[in-house]
Amino acid sequence: MSSDVLSRPAAPAPGTELCTLADLEKTGARGFTFKDGEKLFMMFLVRTGEDVAGYVNSCPHLGTPLNFLEHRFLTADRARIQCATHGAQFEPATGLCVEGPCLGAHLRPVPVEIDGTTVRIALSHS
Ligand code: FES
Repeated sequence: MSSDVLSRPAAPAPGTELCTLADLEKTGARGFTFKDGEKLFMMFLVRTGEDVAGYVNSCPHLGTPLNFLEHRFLTADRARIQCATHGAQFEPATGLCVEGPCLGAHLRPVPVEIDGTTVRIALSHS
């Protein structure tokens, strides 16, 4: 998995703890904003069965954040990630857009890993 996303301004360092698995239960996803001065890095986590995926919180259609409401990234049945702006839908495990104006585009992955009950930025992501 490409690590260039972690070279962006304000991106969290490898090993940065994000939340616990329990924190993902209520909405199935959780957003995070990291700040470095004026720079922002927005990302979110989503449960994918037993695993967790991380993505940059930017819709490939127009580059806007995917959510309007805090931690609300999923369709009502939690089967897909959904952009709140124009309704594009994405597969949680792959980030592939399967419906909407950016069909076939991908969310930008952020390498994450589970360490016990904690989700963190992956320490290695070659
Ligand atoms: S900005 Fe996400 S679908 Fe248009």
